[in-house]
Amino acid sequence: MSNRTFTMIKPDATRKGNTGAILQMINAAGFRIVAMKMVHLSEAKAGEFYAVHAQRPFYGELVGFMSSGPITAAILEKDNAVEDFRKLIGSTNPADAAEGTIRKLFAASIGENAVHGSDSDENAKIEGDFFFSKLEQF
Ligand code: CMP
Repeated sequence: MSNRTFTMIKPDATRKGNTGAILQMINAAGFRIVAMKMVHLSEAKAGEFYAVHAQRPFYGELVGFMSSGPITAAILEKDNAVEDFRKLIGSTNPADAAEGTIRKLFAASIGENAVHGSDSDENAKIEGDFFFSKLEQF
């Protein structure tokens, strides 16, 4: 059972002014923020982060979107963090997301889907370390 996951509040949610409301939902669901920063990824950095999807047809669109404006990256702590956070954010495609989830409330499409959540403990660690040094993880 994991106790940490990694999230990004994506450029669409940042542009719409939803960062505060999303952080509020994250806190209300019992997650503790143990690292956080606002950054504007270059195309190269976004491409590196999503390298696992490099062969997918949507890779170019994904990298372009994720480097289109600032994001908020954070590491979150809670028992069963990876699974519980994926429940809180809802399905990747907001059309399939359950009522009350972050994506149902704030996402417009499968590409512009407001938030990212790690899909495994292993990836949570890799993704958190991509953005935060040891000194920045509390
Ligand atoms: P995320 O959880 O950040 O991880 C990979 C991202 O790829 C995913 O959220 C979606 O935003 C994006 N993605 C997945 N499928 C598609 C698609 N068919 N078209 C565009 N983007 C997609």
